[in-house]
Amino acid sequence: MKKTAAIVLAAGKGSRMKSDVQKQFLLLKEKPILYYSLKAFQDSPVSEIILVTGADTMAYCKKEIVEKYNLDKVTEIVAGGAERYVSVYHGLQAVADADYVLIHDGARPFLQQDIIQRTMEGAVLYGACVAAMPVKDTIKIADPEGFVIETPDRSALWGMQTPQAFELPLIRKAYDMLMESPVQNVTDDAMVAEQMLGTKIKLVYGAYTNLKITTPEDMDVAQSIYSKIWENI
Ligand code: CTP
Ligand code: MG
Repeated sequence: MKKTAAIVLAAGKGSRMKSDVQKQFLLLKEKPILYYSLKAFQDSPVSEIILVTGADTMAYCKKEIVEKYNLDKVTEIVAGGAERYVSVYHGLQAVADADYVLIHDGARPFLQQDIIQRTMEGAVLYGACVAAMPVKDTIKIADPEGFVIETPDRSALWGMQTPQAFELPLIRKAYDMLMESPVQNVTDDAMVAEQMLGTKIKLVYGAYTNLKITTPEDMDVAQSIYSKIWENI
């Protein structure tokens, strides 16, 4: 039986949220946002969960989230880095025994089992697979002065979400190469595999509810998504 690990990222500063508490620890229905995705992986077929957080929040995570809610699949809590990709790299090093890995933003609390299942299956079938959704807005490429350069065909555009799922040796190799020769503006894991190894990435459906909580108004949206998917309101 092949094993899958999950890496949950919670080492960001949350600068766009502009709150005193980092966004992954803000409370949503009395529990920290980070709890929800850890719980989703706890209830999934993954065999180990690596939680990556700030050096100064590791003790809080252990006591107030992992132990408090009996999330016993969390086998390691490791310190992240200044950029998301450094946090991922640290997480990859902490995986003990897995063939595949799902990398997930701890700021996406509404991760449901069907998405975990699709990304796990995609990793097995294609080696690299990302949860994504068709974009709803028309996207334009602009120059630094804010003038439009180009309008890509919307029907070909997808917004990337997480989990991003990979064969573990493949993504480890890609990140090892990235750490040796860093590139600018790494915003997801798929682009590391694309740029370092030329890997073909399969997109599978995430969900529009699989929101990444980023700015203050997202907290209001999160309350209503919570009610819709977990309270059937
Ligand atoms: N993340 C991380 N380590 C970093 C940066 C980000 O583990 N150095 C995590 C965040 O905690 C979040 C996820 O990666 O769960 C996605 O990042 P993002 O939404 O950009 O969160 P922040 O970087 O915290 O927010 P901001 O960019 O507004 O500062
Ligand atoms: Mg960020």
